[in-house]
Amino acid sequence: MFVKWVYANQAILLLIVGVFIVLNGSEFCEGGQTSKFSRKSNDLSLDMPLDCDVFQVPPGYNAPQQVHITQGDHIGKAVIVSWTTEDEPGSNIVCYWPENSTEKKSSEGVVLTYNYVNYTSGYIHHCTISGLEFDTKYYYEVGSGNSSRQFWFLTPPESGPDVPYTFGLIGDLGQTHDSNRTLTHYELNPTKGKALVFVGDLSYADNYPYNDNARWDTWARFVERNAAYQPWIWTAGNHEIDYLPKVGESIPFKPYTYRFPTPYQASLSTAPYWYSVKRASAYIIVMASYSAFVYGAGKYTPQYKWVMDELPKVNRTETPWLIVVMHCPMYSSYVHHYMEGESMRVLYEAYFVKYKVDVVFAGHVHAYERSERISNIAYNISNGVCVPVRDESAPVYVTIGDGGNLEGLVYEMTQPQPEYSAYREASFGHGIFDIKNRTHAYFGWHRNQDGYAVEADSFWLHNRVWRPIQEQPMVSSL
Ligand SMILES: [Fe+2]
Repeated sequence: MFVKWVYANQAILLLIVGVFIVLNGSEFCEGGQTSKFSRKSNDLSLDMPLDCDVFQVPPGYNAPQQVHITQGDHIGKAVIVSWTTEDEPGSNIVCYWPENSTEKKSSEGVVLTYNYVNYTSGYIHHCTISGLEFDTKYYYEVGSGNSSRQFWFLTPPESGPDVPYTFGLIGDLGQTHDSNRTLTHYELNPTKGKALVFVGDLSYADNYPYNDNARWDTWARFVERNAAYQPWIWTAGNHEIDYLPKVGESIPFKPYTYRFPTPYQASLSTAPYWYSVKRASAYIIVMASYSAFVYGAGKYTPQYKWVMDELPKVNRTETPWLIVVMHCPMYSSYVHHYMEGESMRVLYEAYFVKYKVDVVFAGHVHAYERSERISNIAYNISNGVCVPVRDESAPVYVTIGDGGNLEGLVYEMTQPQPEYSAYREASFGHGIFDIKNRTHAYFGWHRNQDGYAVEADSFWLHNRVWRPIQEQPMVSSL
């Protein structure tokens, strides 16, 4: 009788445990954490209407609009200032001066226009101002007469191993109400980003008939409130390709290339889509996911040769933090876009491990995800060894394609959560990469529904050269 009672109770216990496992699948999966956070609405985001205040054209005849800046050289002593005028080309001059000085300098830029199907661009100006002092606030002025406009920026400190610096991270932004929330959260984050690493997919103009390039103009007016004051480090995504050969638009990246210059020649790159910059204690290598196999990403191609030259060049004593940026993630466990980064992973992952890249930031997947330090580089076709394994020389892969564009979030995730995935959540937000010194950097991911200071996911990175030990992820708030 007693034995029967024990068996019966064991059976009930097993049943309860089984039900608990089924109901809490995410808790018992093989990988990390899948967030249980859910938004109130799963609706697609809508683009803000054209008469929205964020798209307002500045007043005055031929007033400069769409003002944005990016790093203008390899080391951080130059800035490229870009703006557009609508009525006439106007002045190509940028006037600039350091804070605490009234002595103004000026530099002359170029003006460009382009056509796209039936669209004709405004007058797009680019002007590089160089020879700047490190760690200095500069004011600058574009336009002329009553329509001139003034902005400012801070140059980075000179590169050095323990120079702290804070980068913001946004991807796949678009121009919806959610995009606006993301940008506002970034601006009001108390951990102030000093430069923004943009991981690709800017305007989503190509969601409109004939890739309506007027939506490139509205996007640049929308981001001006931040991009005119701190450099946005650009990465080309698939929404920058703008390839419509049936209507005569057969030059990939045409609007993007006209509008968003990069300092690629300063790092001996031969195309604006892959390049590198040094900024404080970070060395950032921007790669192009969509120049593949035409002239860019496969073996023996210009991008491949450039990356092979670039990686061994990085002096980790001067810039300990080696960051790679690309649009399409190599590791993502979402169903949407699954394995789209595989060709890049096969070609480049072994080098990222060899040269101890600290972190790879990507977008494309409209969600957030952080990986463990893993690699999958043992496979040689015949050995069958093709499983990601823990690798302390490997980067952490962060997907931050959750800026808030009109295509909405992706919710479907591969199940169970793979072991390589440490944390994943389908919410809009932005990231902050906060370098403290040569050994430690702190990453925080901020979802738009939270307060400005709240981190929904965060972790300390230990530098792969100066402190190559295993990190302990912090507990994420669900
Ligand atoms: Fe994308």
